Amino acid sequence: MMDRGLPGYFSEEGSAETVNARIGPGADARLAEVMAALVRHLHAFIKDVELTQAEWEQAIGFLTRTGQICDDTRQEYILLSDVLGASMLVDAINNRRPPGATENTVLGPFHVDGAPRYEMGADISLAGGGERCLFEGRVLDLDGNPVAGATLDVWCDNEDGFYDVQQPGVQPAFNNRGVFTTGADGRYWFHGIRPVSYPIPDDGPVGQLLGQLGRHPYRPAHMHFIVAAEGFETVVTHTFVARDAYLLSDAVFGVKQSLIANFVAAEGGEAQWRSEFDFVLVREGSP
Ligand code: BEZ
Ligand code: FE
Repeated sequence: MMDRGLPGYFSEEGSAETVNARIGPGADARLAEVMAALVRHLHAFIKDVELTQAEWEQAIGFLTRTGQICDDTRQEYILLSDVLGASMLVDAINNRRPPGATENTVLGPFHVDGAPRYEMGADISLAGGGERCLFEGRVLDLDGNPVAGATLDVWCDNEDGFYDVQQPGVQPAFNNRGVFTTGADGRYWFHGIRPVSYPIPDDGPVGQLLGQLGRHPYRPAHMHFIVAAEGFETVVTHTFVARDAYLLSDAVFGVKQSLIANFVAAEGGEAQWRSEFDFVLVREGSP
């Protein structure tokens, strides 16, 4: 018979229960619930794989390097959460929406506050290059009514797959970024470039892990949007370029079928491509 150990002493079999029994009566109830579950799952995982001492040391080394590479602009832990699918799972749990509403996806590390506010029709590409594209559509409520005064905060990479903040001094600040506000008809339209697929930052421990797992670091081409309007839930999302080679293997699992947008060859005018996409917002407080 397996030794269950004396109450209060640590044993392999009763390990999680022993640790969780130490949580005191004064602990915050939610913290106690979350930490007890974490300990249960962590201990079950260690038992499941029979973690070796060397593997435990590797894990500690990996987490240490992950922390050491973080600074004001680089957040390797969020990247780790992204490639493990954890970011998308938290997002899914916290942004359940009715059918027909625009779905969320991962924010990513390249959003910046304070992008220029433009009139509709402006060009967010400040550097030229790339394939010209007109982005247009409507912001609607679930009944199909236009939402006036909605802001669309948009950003994407350049033709080489880099955001402006990754190339200071190479790209102009706020290249391929802008904020637009809808009028009474809920319509938006702006010019930019057709985004391209790119690798997530893979020169750190997370990139190394992907390599060791035989996973590539690429994201399918996408345009980021944060769509916000008074009285509505804010949508943090992207539109993905249809038929991109990485749609089914996004390194951070951000693709949802409903977010895939057609990019069609534009006829006449200055744009080479046109991508039309409507955003449908849910009223705050709706069930
Ligand atoms: C992005 O789409 O910008 C992104 C998202 C997650 C990780 C890295 C980049
Ligand atoms: Fe992105």
